[in-house]
Amino acid sequence: MTDARQGLSGLLDTEAIRKDFPLLDRTVHDGKKVVYLDSAATSQKPRQVLDALNTYYERHNANVHRGVYTIAEEATALYEGARDKVAAFINAPSRDEVIFTKNASESLNLVANMLGWADEPYRVDRDTEIVTTEMEHHSNIVPWQLLAQRTGAKLKWFGITDDGRLDLSNIDEIITEKTKIVSFTLVSNILGTVNPVEQIIRRAQQVGALVCIDASQAAPHMVLDVQALQADFVAFTGHKMVGPTGIGVLWGRQELLEDLPPFLGGGEMIETVSMHSSTYAPAPHKFEAGTPPIAQAVGLGAAVDYLTSIGMERIHQHEKAITEYALKRLLEVPDLRIIGPTTAEDRGAAISFTLGDIHPHDVGQVLDEQGIAVRVGHHCARPVCLRYGIPATTRASFYLYSTPAEVDALVDGLEHVRNFFG
Ligand code: ALA
Repeated sequence: MTDARQGLSGLLDTEAIRKDFPLLDRTVHDGKKVVYLDSAATSQKPRQVLDALNTYYERHNANVHRGVYTIAEEATALYEGARDKVAAFINAPSRDEVIFTKNASESLNLVANMLGWADEPYRVDRDTEIVTTEMEHHSNIVPWQLLAQRTGAKLKWFGITDDGRLDLSNIDEIITEKTKIVSFTLVSNILGTVNPVEQIIRRAQQVGALVCIDASQAAPHMVLDVQALQADFVAFTGHKMVGPTGIGVLWGRQELLEDLPPFLGGGEMIETVSMHSSTYAPAPHKFEAGTPPIAQAVGLGAAVDYLTSIGMERIHQHEKAITEYALKRLLEVPDLRIIGPTTAEDRGAAISFTLGDIHPHDVGQVLDEQGIAVRVGHHCARPVCLRYGIPATTRASFYLYSTPAEVDALVDGLEHVRNFFG
């Protein structure tokens, strides 16, 4: 144990937790134990989630909201039960405010399309403005670019400061009376920054703009209370919060979901259909056309149970301690430059960095040879790399099963990378 590890407090019992995650026991490259530091891309899955998926398929598989037979009713109860679990997890005032999608990208595209097809007062058109930020994942940039191109609306954004925070110095010029929607990330997937939600929402509310929050990097890591946030829409994905892939969530305020038009048409989202016109089911079903991701929703429900049994506040404290330790140790590595905040305050557990002039892809490859899994590239947030004049970064990201020993392995691994490249 390094001296620096002493005094770390708030850590979870990772020895017990890691027993739930079969993949963490894997080895690669002739017996090297996997050090999984890519949870911001996707988290590993506990046995409880894998079992829920298996049991669903083995015992309850049927389509939902259709059959009257026992197994179909069980499938419907499991699917709708998952909605109840998610609603409780995010403290939604109503379960009908929870829409299942396939991922956070689809959730954000859904909001953009609802607004694009909406009537007044929500309609986005050539006289209106859309606001986002330079630190977004592409999934919170491209849908708004598409909407702006289609409607003629103007797309504006907040820039980033040198130390990886949002530059809100011109907030009154960016968010104006013309702004219809402000969409931003709660926690940056590349910089790790936790953004000042209250300040942005206060200004949006002053001008009557709607607020959409990308909580993909927040929902897995901290208490997410949509009532406390006071946004209008919150999007996140299941696979980063120990759930399966193929399931995302859009939470929206009930009166908005009642007023706004559907985006996808098809089975299950209707009330009546004739050859001339159709009427729609109430939310959330209005926004869930076709057979939904049933097993995936059930898996997400199990993921929510798993995280809740440990406690989101405890998970947050664990990650804070690991992040603090990782920042301290990484800053000791010669030539390493952290891209993003360098203190654990208002910061998530994803840490991006460059190492001298060694290309991140080379860093990633040499780390992989030692069993260490990190993400390299622009992390689907290319404008951030452009902002800092770098082609890419290496990113280590931590979760409830990450340990200080894994941070040490990363630091040793980087030492090896430096020696390797002279
Ligand atoms: N959005 C995921 C990431 O940041 C894929 O890696």
